Formats: sequence, C-alpha cells, structure tokens
Amino acid sequence: MDLLVLDPTQDPDQDGHISQVTHSHVTPVSPPCFRKEVDSDGICWLTFDTPNASANVWNFATLEEFDRHIEELHRDHEVCALIIRGSKEKVFIAGADLKMVQTLPSEELYELLALGQDVFTHLESLRIPKIAAIHGTCVGGGFEMALACDYRVASKCDSTRIGLPETQLGLIPAWGGSTRLPRLIGLPKALDLIIRGKIMTADQAKRQGLVHEVVPEEHLMSFAKKMALKPMRINAHHFHFTQVWPIPQWLRYHAKSLLTSKHSWMKEVQASPLIAIDVITHGASKSIEESLLLEQGAIRKLADSGMTKSLIETFLRKENASKKLPAPYIHVKPRSITHVAVIGAGVMGSGIAYALACKGTRVLLCDTSPDFIARGVDRINQLFQAGVKNHVLTRKQARESKDRITFTSESVPMKRMDMVIEAIVEEMSVKKQLFADLAMRCRDDTILATNTSALSVMEIAKAVPYPERVVGLHFFNPAHLMPLVEVVQLEKTLPEVVTTMMRFVQSMGKTPILVRDAPGFIVNRILVPYLLGAVKLAVDMRDPWMIDDAMTEFGMPMGPLRLLDEVGFDVALHVEKTLRNAFGDRVPQCSLLSEMMAHGMLGRKNDRGFYSAFQSKNGEQPNPEVLTFLQPKVGSLTKAQIIDQLQGLMQDEAQRCLDDKVAASASDIELAMTLGAGYPPFRHLFPHQT
Ligand code: NAI
Repeated sequence: MDLLVLDPTQDPDQDGHISQVTHSHVTPVSPPCFRKEVDSDGICWLTFDTPNASANVWNFATLEEFDRHIEELHRDHEVCALIIRGSKEKVFIAGADLKMVQTLPSEELYELLALGQDVFTHLESLRIPKIAAIHGTCVGGGFEMALACDYRVASKCDSTRIGLPETQLGLIPAWGGSTRLPRLIGLPKALDLIIRGKIMTADQAKRQGLVHEVVPEEHLMSFAKKMALKPMRINAHHFHFTQVWPIPQWLRYHAKSLLTSKHSWMKEVQASPLIAIDVITHGASKSIEESLLLEQGAIRKLADSGMTKSLIETFLRKENASKKLPAPYIHVKPRSITHVAVIGAGVMGSGIAYALACKGTRVLLCDTSPDFIARGVDRINQLFQAGVKNHVLTRKQARESKDRITFTSESVPMKRMDMVIEAIVEEMSVKKQLFADLAMRCRDDTILATNTSALSVMEIAKAVPYPERVVGLHFFNPAHLMPLVEVVQLEKTLPEVVTTMMRFVQSMGKTPILVRDAPGFIVNRILVPYLLGAVKLAVDMRDPWMIDDAMTEFGMPMGPLRLLDEVGFDVALHVEKTLRNAFGDRVPQCSLLSEMMAHGMLGRKNDRGFYSAFQSKNGEQPNPEVLTFLQPKVGSLTKAQIIDQLQGLMQDEAQRCLDDKVAASASDIELAMTLGAGYPPFRHLFPHQT
C-alpha cells in the first residue's frame, strides 16, 4: 500500500483552521495518539495508537486530537474516504478513560461528555464515506464513535468484542449511543442491548445489526478499503419504524415494568437502566440534537450518584485483578501451562475441563469408572451444544475445543501434565489418598491444585512430598461461567507457583483473588453464615419466602433460600460442618435444614427444597411442604429488619476475614463477594471504611 504520511502533530490553528469543538478544559500537552496516512487512492487511514499503552481510550486529549484530524478532513477535498482503525493487538477503542472519569469534578465530566458528542457529530457530518475497521475490544465510547461512521466491519477474532456496557457501570451510552443505536437497529433491540449492557462477539454483533460485515483478521483492512472505494449513502440519518408513536410509549411502559418486577431494588436506588429506557424512548421521537441533550441530562442525574461511583470502582478493581499480579509477584516469571489433568468428571470437573479446552489448553479428564466418565462426556457435550446455540462458539471452534479433551478411567501416568486440578468428592481422606497417588504419577514440578470448597489445603498438601507446589484453586459453580477463582496460597507455596496460578486463571478470562488457606476462604466463609442466618429467620416466619424478596430488593441476584436450593442442602450442611469446626457458634445454629434433609428434601437436585417445580413452564414456586417444619411467631419481621440482620452477618464476617488476613485488602474481599456471590457492589461490605 502506497502511503503518504502527514504530520499528526500539526496544529490546525497555524493554518487558520478553527476546530468546531470548543470548551474550557485545558488539556496538558501529550504525545500524539493518532497516525494519519493518505494512500494513493485518496483514502485517509486514521490509526488510533496510544504510545506505551495496551489500550486506546477517549479522554480530553485524544478526543481533541481526533477532532483536529476530522476538521482537516472537512477542509481537504482530495481525500475520498476515511478508514478508522486501531493498532493494538486486543483493543480497538475501550471507551472513555474510566480512571479519569472517576476523578473528574462534575463540571469537567459534563464538558467531556459534551466534547465527545460534538466530536462524533463532527465525524458523522463528514461528506465522505467513513468506515470503522474494528479489530479488538470496541465498547462504550469506542462503539459510539463507530456508530457515527457509515460502515462498520469487524474482524472475526476472539478479542473482537462489541457493545455498549455503560448501564453496567451505572451510566448510559451518552456519546450518541442511546440516540444512534435505536435509529440503526430499532428500539426493541437497542433497548435490550443497552439495558443489559451486553458485549458481543463480532458474529453476534453482525446478527444484531451492529456491524455490516465480519471478515477474517487478515482481510480486515483490504475489505475496509474495498468498502471505502464503493459508492455508498453518506450520513443517512437512520429512521426505524419502531420510532413511530405509540411504539416508544408502549416499549417504555413494558420495559420498565419488566425490569422493576425482576430487580425490585431498582425502584429504590437511582438506576441507569430505567433512565436509559426514558432517554431511548423519549429520544426516539425527537431530533438527533434533542436526543443528545436528553443523554446529557441523564448523565447529570447519574454521574454523582454513589451507585455509579461504586460500579465504576468495582469495574476498575476487576480489570486490575484480571490483568495484573499482586505487588509481591510482579517480577516473578510464570511457567507455561499447556497440559492439564482434571480429576473428577462431576459437575465442577466437567465445567473446568470445558472452560480450559475452550481457551486452547489440552485436558485429560479422569474419573474412577467408565460410567462416571460417560456422565462427564454427556455434561461436556451439553456445554458445547449450549455454547454453539448461544453463539459463544462456532461449530468449528466447538469441534476443535472438544478434540482437546481426552477421557480416562484408568490410572495413567501423568508425566506430561504441567498441572493437575482435583475436583473429586469433598472428603479429606479421599482427597489425601488421591494426592499421594498423584505425587507418584506426576513430574516433581507438576503443580497440584485442589478445588475444595472449604477443606484445609494445608492438610491435603501433607499427602505429597512437595507441598510447596500445592495450591487451592476454588472455582465457583457453574465453573465455565463464574468469573471468580480463589487462588489459595500456603505459607510454603513457591512464588513461581503463585504467579503461574494467577496468570493461568487470568488466561481463562477469569479473575483470580489470592487468599490464605483458611476455612471457607473468602466467599463461603461470608456466605454460609448469611445463608444459615436466613434459615434461622425462616423458622419463625409465616412467609419465609419474604426473606428472598427482601434480599433481592437489597440487590442480591437471588434470595438465600433459593440459593440454598441451588447449592443443595447436603453440600451446604457439609460446608457448615467445616466452618462450625473452625468458628464454633459464630455460625448460626439451626436444625431446619437437616430436618428437611431427613425428610428427603435436597433442594433443586430433587425438586424439593424451599421451592419446587424448577422445570415447570413458569419456573420454581414456593414449596408448601416447607411450612410443616416452621413454628411461626406472631409479629413477623419487616423486610428492612431482615436486610439489616442478614447484611450485618455478612459485614461482621467480612471484617473478621480482613482481621485474619485471609485476603490482602478489604477491596479484594468486596470484589470476591461481588464476583463469587453477587453481593451488590453499591452496598457497603465494610461500612466503616467508606
Ligand atoms: P460431583 O459429585 O459432581 O463430582 C465428583 C466426581 O469425582 C464424581 O464423578 C466422582 O466419581 C469423582 N471421583 C470421586 N473420587 C475420585 C477419585 N479418587 N478419582 C477420580 N474421580 C473421583 O462433585 P462436584 O460438585 O463436582 O464437586 C467436586 C469438588 O469441587 C468438591 O471438592 C466440591 O467441594 C468442590 N466444589 C463444588 C462446587 C459445587 O457447587 N458443586 C463449587 C466449588 C467447589
């Protein structure tokens, strides 16, 4: 390609050009982040390439620099098309610089908001074809920029992810996303994508109409160029029939009632999805300019709320934990892990094997008999089928990933294995026996990990001659979906093993939190007293299901009784036993669960728990059988009292976890609880540290 390189640092003011965008914020001088090149066909290639950074983000400096290039193009009559691309391996544009957003005073934040809207409108008004060539993450403000282009083509690549996740951060898309997306794909689809803050693969984005074409990574630029040279309708201000009255009004009513019936806490706190519904449906019947003003008004309402700040804070913590290492391990080199044996083809082992194979790891899945292996194969096949059905994997990817898993019920040598993950029954003696056997079959440097929920990793490590290579890797159920893994470190664990495990978990796309070997680690230790506390309250209540209503209003994804059904009463009582041995009566005491179990009730697994009819069309319903075990008292607790008591139990145990140094910081404990138990990030777990 023949490229003419222009000076990206050129000050447009020097040749008399005045940028359309003016605001009062003073931007410090920073190195240029865009390269502008015009090829022999007159196509301008604008490459976003922030120096010394793995991601491109929008802030005052990058928006202003981008706008100077757009202004030049408005005046340049030689250039016939614009292609915007990124230079990073995994990120096209990751949206706004959230670290900066978090610290900006309100007035400057509103300026940034107005600046972004103006710059993208300025881009949209260019009278040449504008093509976004998307490779890597293109979310939030990154995709809002792409929406202001005429054509979007994306690479078919694992790292290409597209969407508007702002509502997940307590915001709404306000750089034109809430205005342009509904006009492009219609209100119902746009509402759904924005309310859920869904991030999609390139194929999913194409199916939803967000991008026009998906091509292999190596053809992305040539395809973008082909589009640039093709005549196309410029600046077509889209209009979708769903903007016509009374559809927006009807959708507003419908979407709001659906949302508030599902997430009742939204009524109580200022919630961005509800505001997004208002902006999108009101904006649909207005002009683009008026709709952009509605977006601005919404951010003014949301940005200062404690909820938004907490959600952004949690997001940044998660990003940090998913990419970086804790300070003592930064300089310790991890080992490469390519071959993993998973022992136990049950619920957890199958899920872990599936998740690993999908990320390119070779897995040997072992169990004690061909029957157990057959059950494991069934589970894994179901996971692959669901993955293909939900467009998480293509058929080809599913086939290739499946081929990476081999199964055995024999006691085979494991010399090729870089690590072993044990996921067998939660019995200390059985686990110790297995570890002793593994030590003989594996290499001396093979890392041995246990997925135990609450047993002592230290005790398990005693079974092997090299305990410094033993760790806990506590995955959550369902293992292929849950983002958290507690990495349990022993005093003896080699730093190299810790680093390797943290990087290994990160490479699975999950978030590792490093914890000390202590009963229940973080999540189960805090969650179990809360669950048992809820059972204790239930005994005295006429309507025990009110406890679940109260806690979902508080913001938990499901109530404690419903969660106990999911976990299974047998498993819950097993963990309770371990925690009671460690902490005594601090764990709320109540015989209700064991009584129910003695009557054959196990929870969801046999459809007899606090709820039943799990498979019915209308979903699970309160199980009246429960009432026969209760001794209701006159004068029931209010929801506020229930929340107060149960939140208190979690807060007390979280503080003890911190005092016992189970995790390095309160923020690690909060993040673990949010990712592992769905604790709402906008509620304080450490009330005295706000
Ligand atoms: P499961 O009962 O579904 O599966 C256990 C599997 O291990 C069975 O297929 C069994 O045949 C096999 N097994 C037993 N002894 C074996 C041996 N010596 N060698 C090879 N295979 C053997 O159990 P699940 O739920 O998968 O739990 C496994 C481990 O994961 C337990 O330690 C549990 O505490 C832990 N865990 C479970 C979670 C859950 O929600 N189910 C969540 C997090 C951890």
